[in-house]
Amino acid sequence: MKHLRLPVGATLILFLAALCPPALHAHDGVQASVHDTVAAVIKRMQRDLSLDELVGITVPKAEAFLTSQERETLGAGHIRFRVNVPVVVTILRDATLGDEPFWLRERGFTATGLKTKFYTREFDAWEKSFPAGRIGLGVHNLSGRGTHYLVLVKAQQGGDRVQVSELYPGNLRTAAFVAGVKPFVDQELQLSGIPAALENQLLIQTDTRREEDAQLVSLFSKTQYPAPDRADHVALTWSDDPRTTQTIQWRTSARIKSGVIRYQVKPANSMFDARSARTKRANTQALSTPTLVNDPLNQRHTVVLTRLKPETTYLYSVGDGSPEGWTAPAEFTTAPARVVPFSFIYMGDAQNGLDRWGVLLQNAFRARPDAAFYLMAGDLVNRGAERWDWDSFFEHSKGVFDRRQLVPVLGNHEYQGGEPALYHAHFTLPRNGPKGVPLQRAYSFEYSNAKFVILDSNLDAAKQTAWLERELASTKAVWKFVSYHHPAYSSSANRTNLGVRNLWTPIFDKYRVDLALQGHDHAYLRTYPMRAQQRVANASDGTIYIISVSGTKYYDQPKHDYTEVGLTKLSTYQVLDIQINGNRLVYRAHDVEGQVRDEFVIEK
Ligand SMILES: [Fe+2]
Ligand SMILES: [Fe+2]
Repeated sequence: MKHLRLPVGATLILFLAALCPPALHAHDGVQASVHDTVAAVIKRMQRDLSLDELVGITVPKAEAFLTSQERETLGAGHIRFRVNVPVVVTILRDATLGDEPFWLRERGFTATGLKTKFYTREFDAWEKSFPAGRIGLGVHNLSGRGTHYLVLVKAQQGGDRVQVSELYPGNLRTAAFVAGVKPFVDQELQLSGIPAALENQLLIQTDTRREEDAQLVSLFSKTQYPAPDRADHVALTWSDDPRTTQTIQWRTSARIKSGVIRYQVKPANSMFDARSARTKRANTQALSTPTLVNDPLNQRHTVVLTRLKPETTYLYSVGDGSPEGWTAPAEFTTAPARVVPFSFIYMGDAQNGLDRWGVLLQNAFRARPDAAFYLMAGDLVNRGAERWDWDSFFEHSKGVFDRRQLVPVLGNHEYQGGEPALYHAHFTLPRNGPKGVPLQRAYSFEYSNAKFVILDSNLDAAKQTAWLERELASTKAVWKFVSYHHPAYSSSANRTNLGVRNLWTPIFDKYRVDLALQGHDHAYLRTYPMRAQQRVANASDGTIYIISVSGTKYYDQPKHDYTEVGLTKLSTYQVLDIQINGNRLVYRAHDVEGQVRDEFVIEK
């Protein structure tokens, strides 16, 4: 796939092309595409507005920028279809959107007064009558905010049966609007209840990945942390054997075109000695984010050290090779080649309030410097396609992820804009995932006597199932952990991911996975040990599913029959101590102050 690594001077058009899958944006020969129209508007905005005006543009100002032809395309070119009989089209719109989208009133839709709540959001209904023939509906909005609207179609005459044809974009589908229907083609989410007045109409299932297709507001941004010349935001990951390799990545301003690491086994006096250090050149690539107006281009430097000694602490420093360019020495420790006790930390969504998440992380590191690495179960940031958010993530994790490996998992927010391009730009990860799934999204590794299988629950669960089974079947590890973002057992109402529940949990059962480390629901949940979707008495007979949140956004949590511990409005980090004597796992969830808020022990 194409990442946002474009040459200097790459235009915004190229940037958008990289974000937009061509199949969904192809011209159909009838009219200008929304995609090309938006690109043209953005180009004009960049020409005519100052950088501060671009960053601060409002919906009315963005609307005023549109020509009448562009208004027509954005007002009717987003979703198109043909109907065989006269119909009434109802738009169910995210009610938080105020006057958006601009085309609803303009094109003669009127509010019916009906409001309904789906999962956590309120929607209001707007309708308009159309004769048989072609119908065009507009973009989600210009702000990119909120949840995509739903489309319902019913015949004007009671005896007519509506048929929808020539549906564009081609990945949209139709379904009867009844309880249990999936409103979106790209999500597993189902609607548990339907307003009686709308029941049994024909639903056009829309695509939430298209919510930002016409985003003109908040598209341009500034980073609080522009990349300096001296290396910073240094982060450790593993992309190969944790026992003998170490991957290190960092950034610099665009002016610094190369990167070097120097490293050595930590000497007895803990002092870095440059004369006896080895050096290795980094792979350096430009990262272009043209909408980040105050730092549109920086350089990413990545190095993979190989042939390291297991269970060994190294000191290292990175720079551009010039005498004054080196960072202060930091250290990393390779994984053991034998079975030893160890600890690691697991966290759920950081995502919001990264400054306060940073305090939690720094406190975790201070409290448990012995913890080997940090596993984060997705939604590391809120705006996965925006570099300022990643800059903030790395700024607030300074001093931790340059000395403890980060094991990241993909959440839905990393997929903002369709593909997790900036996630890939920032992390180099193992390429040992399932065939048919993009590399570095699902992967596995072993550490001491534990197996870790990282899955991508944004993608088709079925495509990862055979690989998951092979990974679990082939390991001799005593402890088995899986991690993915969307919970098999939700803490919220109506958020359970059925693909995960139905396809993956039977495999966790079969191979006795100990813990599933999940995110997404912005609450703390520990289930009873579960097997075959039933509660069982002992952890040794089932899998415990955990949800946690490390950032500052929280969702409510009703009690479920699988809930053993449910806590809300609480950010935590979890320390998992793997003890060899007696084969015990001691698990503790700590709040930001370090207080233990949940704990349990599994003994093998
Ligand atoms: Fe989240
Ligand atoms: Fe999420």
